[in-house]
Amino acid sequence: MALTDAPLLRALRGDRPETTPVWFMRQAGRSLPEYRELRVGTQMLDACLNPEMAAEITLQPVRRHGVDAGIFFSDIVVPLRLAGLDVEIVPGRGPVFSDPVRTTADVDRVTAIAPEEVAAAAEPIREAVRLTVAELAPQGVPLIGFAGAPFTLAAYLIEGGPSKEHLRARAMMHADPDAWNRLAGWLADVSAAFLGAQIEAGASAVQLFDSWAGSLAPADYRRFVRPHSASALGSVTSVPRIHFGVGTGPFLGDMRLDGIADAVGVDWRLPLDEAAGVAGPGTTLQGNIDPAMLQAPWPVLEQHVRDVVERGRAARAHIVNLGHGVPPETDPTVLTRIVELVHSIRA
Ligand code: CP3
Repeated sequence: MALTDAPLLRALRGDRPETTPVWFMRQAGRSLPEYRELRVGTQMLDACLNPEMAAEITLQPVRRHGVDAGIFFSDIVVPLRLAGLDVEIVPGRGPVFSDPVRTTADVDRVTAIAPEEVAAAAEPIREAVRLTVAELAPQGVPLIGFAGAPFTLAAYLIEGGPSKEHLRARAMMHADPDAWNRLAGWLADVSAAFLGAQIEAGASAVQLFDSWAGSLAPADYRRFVRPHSASALGSVTSVPRIHFGVGTGPFLGDMRLDGIADAVGVDWRLPLDEAAGVAGPGTTLQGNIDPAMLQAPWPVLEQHVRDVVERGRAARAHIVNLGHGVPPETDPTVLTRIVELVHSIRA
């Protein structure tokens, strides 16, 4: 099958292919024994910058589950490492920055780095994408590239590490809107450079992850965040674009970014038929199996997946996914079974 006719890409164009496409956020990673084995002795960000290893990890879940897309194995903080910031991913915790960006001087220091430097340093990323696409394209399977949205990246960078309510980032918007806008604008450019590198090397679609946007009041999202996300995702014009957030039901319409997003991701809180009413006829929906359901007995999970597919019919097109990432403790055979089930249901 030609890559352009792949069910995922058709669904992103608003078509309803014969089988409903399905992939999983965090399909690559700790739920797979072959991933855990390959990663022994290699730090997360070193794995991301090793082209052969990143390509192999990206391919593992495609081989195993028969999903309709690969998601490039990397991390939202990789472009910040490429920009020269001191960041590590601490196992069991997440990204940690040695010098959090808290003051105007910190914002000056970081935004002085030209986003072009990220593009120039991204050769290992381009090489990993080329290796991956060389395997996937002949099978007609597209590769999805991705980046972090400015708010989610800022939530780590300003706090210095993972936080529950992202208070410092939300505080900066109001305490110093000028510093906030400069930082978020820079993060948008850095994410745009990271997306550009993946597209240049052969990614067929992209997803912008705004995982923590749900902590924002809708008015703050509109005023302080949406313009920067629109800038990051709007930088992409040659491939379809997916925009994902968790807990963003209250402002799902804004997540369309006035049509810049071909698809919006929906978490498990909002039924897809309701989401379709908000997103309107010009937007594909992606989602929204509850990750908690992966622990349920198969008949319970099966009914849930069938319900998700049924409600997804209300949208112009539907890409099945989870409402958020695969939890590390997930039994991977359950994911394979979901793929088989979704593909067996008449679209
Ligand atoms: O399969 C995929 O989805 C592709 C790869 C991918 C990773 N991170 C690999 C990863 C993607 C798309 C991401 C994006 C990412 N990274 C997001 C947005 C998506 C989301 O899940 O909301 C966020 C918020 C991050 C930041 C981050 N990186 C966190 C919170 C963690 C988990 C920390 C932990 O150990 O629990 C990471 C690390 C990370 N990124 C892992 C993987 C496979 C685990 C690293 C390991 O194996 O030790």
